[in-house]
Amino acid sequence: EFVEKKMAKSGGFNYREADVPEYQLPEILKNEAGEVVTAGDWPARRSELMELFREHVYGRRPDVPYEVRFDVVHEQKGIWDGAANAREVKVRILAGGSEYSYTLLVFVPILEGDKAAKPLPTIIHLNNRDFPDFEKAIAEPDDFWPVRMICEQGFVAAAVSTKQIDPDAKNRFDDGIRGFLAKASGQKPTPSSWGALSSWGWGVSRAIDYLLTMPEVDKTRIAMVGHSRGGKAALWAAAEDPRIAIAYSNNSGCGGAALSRRQFGETVDRITTSFPYWFCGRFRQYANQEAKLPVDQHQLVALVAPRAVYITSATEDLWADPHGEYLSLIEAAPAFELLGEESIVQPTMPAADKQRIVGKTGYHIRTGGHGLTPFDWQQFMQFVKAQ
Ligand code: GCU
Repeated sequence: EFVEKKMAKSGGFNYREADVPEYQLPEILKNEAGEVVTAGDWPARRSELMELFREHVYGRRPDVPYEVRFDVVHEQKGIWDGAANAREVKVRILAGGSEYSYTLLVFVPILEGDKAAKPLPTIIHLNNRDFPDFEKAIAEPDDFWPVRMICEQGFVAAAVSTKQIDPDAKNRFDDGIRGFLAKASGQKPTPSSWGALSSWGWGVSRAIDYLLTMPEVDKTRIAMVGHSRGGKAALWAAAEDPRIAIAYSNNSGCGGAALSRRQFGETVDRITTSFPYWFCGRFRQYANQEAKLPVDQHQLVALVAPRAVYITSATEDLWADPHGEYLSLIEAAPAFELLGEESIVQPTMPAADKQRIVGKTGYHIRTGGHGLTPFDWQQFMQFVKAQ
């Protein structure tokens, strides 16, 4: 019934499984020369895939010298009746004689007894909505980033804002980190220069540079969370930065977890029309030409292996293609297997609101629409604890 309603106002977008075109996915374990790769060949195959994603989808990050500095601008100890310490850090990027900065918020739970001395798993959220300021983050409960709940579960909770790193808007290249670094390098962007999704992930990586200096942070258990456009960025950030041990891609859809070749819901044509600045310029040439893409999104999941990946969908979020999001995860299984890890391989999706975890991968499809809810956070934290 829901599908029928969607179809009625679909505007030409496909919401029927029966209308998914036939497609063949590019292989993970066959290199560009057509040879089957072994575990020993994986680093080379992985580099090949990274280059393809850089060249054709997310773009290449600039090769320009920069320095990063951190200023603690606010600190409040013992918030929430002594449950946590809060800190606001200014992340300062220095290049070409000038500076670009954005905010990092960090909340560290105060634990007792044995737990007090141990470094904690840390969850950094790439927030693509209204990013709270320091006072508001402490004072007001927020379902999108439930920072108190995250701390109560024993995690360090950190967050940065997409928009502060690079404006989430057309024609504002000069105002973000991409414009800043382009200016510093003196080079003009090319069709394979990075898009905003990649720059947001880079901004998270600089925040991780800071988190790694904190004794409270367990360096081997840094997780990154992103919703929707943030979920697309989370998978690519984890591909680019191996310090991200766990990637959580929530309702990420086209250009995220969903397979592009399915053309279900949002398509390459549509996304590169509405949000061209998210990707490198070259991605646009695959609009209505998905079969020609040298990669598909299951290979993006494979790039995170053998690290952990958690993917979610929502039953009414057909725009993001729930089935295509699930398929990416199971189609990435050969990479996990090659690297000696277990992952989800069941072809049928789990029932709504029932989490599935196998080894390094996890998945759930929540009842309802597009969104990142406390339920989603709870499920994800279960997954992190299982890692
Ligand atoms: C739009 C866009 C999606 C994206 C979403 C979001 O709907 O088409 O690709 O995931 O915004 O970020 O909320």
